[in-house]
Amino acid sequence: MLVCLGKESSNAGAFEAAQHFAVNILAETQRDVSAVFATRGINRFGSINWRRGDLGDPILEGSTAWFECRMHDRIDAGDHIILVGNVQSYDHSTASPLGYCRGTYVSFQLEQDIVAGRNRKTRVGAILEAQGRILFLASKSGMLALPTNRALGAGSEPGTLRGDLAALGVSYDLDFLYSVYEENDTDTLNVFYRGTAAAVPSVGGVIGYTPEEIPLDRLEGNALRKLMCRYINERLHARFSVYAGDATVGRFKIVVDS
Ligand SMILES: Cc1cc2nc3c(=O)[nH]c(=O)nc-3n(C[C@H](O)[C@H](O)[C@H](O)COP(=O)(O)O)c2cc1C
Repeated sequence: MLVCLGKESSNAGAFEAAQHFAVNILAETQRDVSAVFATRGINRFGSINWRRGDLGDPILEGSTAWFECRMHDRIDAGDHIILVGNVQSYDHSTASPLGYCRGTYVSFQLEQDIVAGRNRKTRVGAILEAQGRILFLASKSGMLALPTNRALGAGSEPGTLRGDLAALGVSYDLDFLYSVYEENDTDTLNVFYRGTAAAVPSVGGVIGYTPEEIPLDRLEGNALRKLMCRYINERLHARFSVYAGDATVGRFKIVVDS
């Protein structure tokens, strides 16, 4: 775990001496907590709920993830110092994390609002990875598609993506929004998530391919081929971006909550 700490921080001395520290990943609903920690000269721990972890470091209530680390190294990096932590314990929840980009907080939950606010057809799908394999559904003709339905749904609601995945017996987590694009000819808004599944289910019609094995010529439609090519490339570099646009032209960006 790396943390880049500005040398002008009033806490620089404490981190110079510290043998351990905690990193809290705030949830999307915790902008106020972020503001507290970005404000100098106040009693930060007096106004929020927190507890001590095993090493004594502060674990903030409501964080979507936390990591308690032993100090492994400190690296001088100009006006910052890089703290390298060896993770001793951690936990996480399903809450969306709070992001920050170009001076604005970033909402990963925004896609839900986009879908809810539009009066048109939607297709919600998932790129699900299980043990390095991506799940596809094969049609009788041998063409491949990702699992999709008209809505994300909740639990095992029939007629939704979650319902379909439950019916296939897939145990999974949707990690983040990966692509939002409009198909203007069919007036359909496509929303694809990236997720992780425990295993490729042994059900007829479900196939798991490693990224190198995916037969691109058997993917259903150009938009899916493009989506998967980007995914394979970004996965190789372990850097994922969010796509927003239409089926042919769009921008890769983080969807910013205004
Ligand atoms: C979203 C966000 C992320 C930040 N990330 C860092 C960071 O990675 N490193 C850092 O030194 N300061 C970061 N800051 C700035 C500090 O929070 C800010 O300088 C703070 O006032 C420092 O207080 P201190 O001097 O008590 O440490 C960030 C601020 C915000 C709002």
